[in-house]
Amino acid sequence: MSNLTFLAVSGSLRRTSHNTGLLRAVRNLAPAGVTIDLYEGLGSLPFFDQDLESGPEPATVADLRRRVREADGIIIATPEYNSAIPGVLVNALDWLSRPTDQPVLGVKPAAVLGASPSQFGTARGQLVLRQILHRMHVPVVAHPEVTVFQSHRRFDTNGCFLGDEVTEGLLSTLLAELVILAGRAHPAGVV
Ligand SMILES: Cc1cc2nc3c(=O)[nH]c(=O)nc-3n(C[C@H](O)[C@H](O)[C@H](O)COP(=O)(O)O)c2cc1C
Repeated sequence: MSNLTFLAVSGSLRRTSHNTGLLRAVRNLAPAGVTIDLYEGLGSLPFFDQDLESGPEPATVADLRRRVREADGIIIATPEYNSAIPGVLVNALDWLSRPTDQPVLGVKPAAVLGASPSQFGTARGQLVLRQILHRMHVPVVAHPEVTVFQSHRRFDTNGCFLGDEVTEGLLSTLLAELVILAGRAHPAGVV
């Protein structure tokens, strides 16, 4: 398989975010031929407003869409907020779901994961994220489901993953499954 690039999006704006740290850990585990590009512009996107669609495309939205178009797939690590996902992440997905006749993300495969200090490790939030991606016709890696629970024990105060064999094994498998899905992804988003 030729080289692949995945765009990694963290649903957290927090400076020492566990989810952003998780994506850095995924990047460190990437095998040869796989590049992980960390997107850091989530907080700069304007709130989605349908009226904006009739004007010039906001520069930050154009940048996100270009980076998704140029990637072979995306990896989303999300916190769980109120049993769902953060508004900033929903906002980005709303932008990527448009225009409906040419949705940017609908043709790209995705992998999802998340970290939370709770016992459930974003299990509920990831269900919400999967439902949104399903609506957008995004093919999503089904297994493994990577829910990094008790994240306060697994990250240092700078948001760096401390590393453990089980979690690293899951992250590597998730990435391997995304590589397989990217190889199979059809331009219409059908696998
Ligand atoms: C508004 C808000 C709502 C939250 N709701 C949940 C929740 O429903 N379930 C959960 O496990 N953690 C919840 N948390 C705690 C987050 O999981 C925790 O802050 C986590 O570290 C955020 O991810 P980050 O480290 O990547 O920023 C919530 C935090 C905030 C700020």
